[in-house]
Amino acid sequence: MSKKVETVAVVGAGIMGHGIAQLCAMAGLKVYIVDISDEILDKAMERIRWSLSKLAEKGKIEKEEAEASLSRIKPTTSYEDLIDVDLAIEAVPEKMKLKKLVFQKLDEVTPKEAILTSNTSSLSITEISKITRRPDKVAGMHFFNPPQIMALVEVIKGDYTSEETIRRVMELAKALGKTPVLVKKDSRGFIVNRILGALFNKVFWDVHLGRAKKEEIDAAAKYSARLPMGLFELADYIGLDVLAEIMRILSDAYGDRLKYCPIIDELIAQGNLGRKTGRGFYDWSAGRPNIPKELAKEYDTSEFLVVAVNEAAWIVMDEVAETKDVDTAMKLGAGWPKGPLELADELGIEEVVSKLELLFSERGEEIYKPCPVLKDYVKRGWLGREAGRGFYVY
Ligand code: 3HC
Repeated sequence: MSKKVETVAVVGAGIMGHGIAQLCAMAGLKVYIVDISDEILDKAMERIRWSLSKLAEKGKIEKEEAEASLSRIKPTTSYEDLIDVDLAIEAVPEKMKLKKLVFQKLDEVTPKEAILTSNTSSLSITEISKITRRPDKVAGMHFFNPPQIMALVEVIKGDYTSEETIRRVMELAKALGKTPVLVKKDSRGFIVNRILGALFNKVFWDVHLGRAKKEEIDAAAKYSARLPMGLFELADYIGLDVLAEIMRILSDAYGDRLKYCPIIDELIAQGNLGRKTGRGFYDWSAGRPNIPKELAKEYDTSEFLVVAVNEAAWIVMDEVAETKDVDTAMKLGAGWPKGPLELADELGIEEVVSKLELLFSERGEEIYKPCPVLKDYVKRGWLGREAGRGFYVY
């Protein structure tokens, strides 16, 4: 019987790392938060203090609980401190070389039965695991921004990850108050980033090619499709440097379907990385951007919704995740009111395919080419909710 996870290390104290460390401490675990300088660690602790007091202010936690959580976190620049951890969560920038260095160090210093996980948004868990002497104890544990609020954790199985490791990581995610979904295959973008990536790709090209304005797309996303944020607003929120890495990885993995759009390169070169620098697609100096509601009618939301459905269908076809888990992931990881496959059944799969075919014939862009699963469902008469069967059986 394996030991219960009581002590964790979070490596990387940035936007994701500090939030993950906070969650672990709030769940009663002892937490080491590791980074390369005291300044970075001080900033992370400052952010954690802010977030805990915000949660206490709103009555979500008791004041004493906030203080106790804070006292359970030990910031450190030394890996040598991690000799008693049961599980580590790496959350450093998305560079394979850097991740491998971190895993090598974790493999050296942590007890040999400790589980090592990565919060990577898109990189290969299998490749990371191979640098360690315990690839069976390496898995993905992917949180969503802000980790204190978003209810999802994607648990990713690498080629060598054992069932026991998956079980324990799932258990930890639940103990942190999250809903875990299993990503059965170590494929790029997993679930949420792959679907959001397809959407970013579509709308970035729309603006880059002058087909629409970002404010129109964002107004339609927020006020017609009822997404919690506009897509350009969300890009800024994630951080354009982080997003560019993800979009490159997706482009390399899926070729022309998710062909990299250079629209963010200039902003990045200017140091305008989104919310964290005060400016990206939008000016964030006074908080969230104001997106005029009246622009919502200027953009047809079905254009990006069918792209989301299409990518979700590819995920099902590639056997990366179960239908239900794809929908749960988008609802809990990105705050969507409905999952894309529920939406497909509601819109009607034949309508989705017709819309995609129309866009493909007009524009010739791979992203609109219907996934074979959708065409197969139409052939079988699995047309969605009204027909009694689509992605779900009614
Ligand atoms: N800690 C505590 N409280 C926080 C917080 C934090 N870290 N962040 C925000 N809050 C609080 C705010 O202060 C605010 O409190 P208030 O009501 O007292 O002012 C409250 O939460 C609600 O926030 P907002 O008023 O800003 O607005 P929303 O109601 O829209 O909620 C949101 C914010 C939850 C971020 C929502 O907009 C949302 O779900 N957006 C989509 C986010 C998303 O898609 N995330 C996934 C991105 S992809 C990803 O992360 C993967 C990675 O690999 C890149």
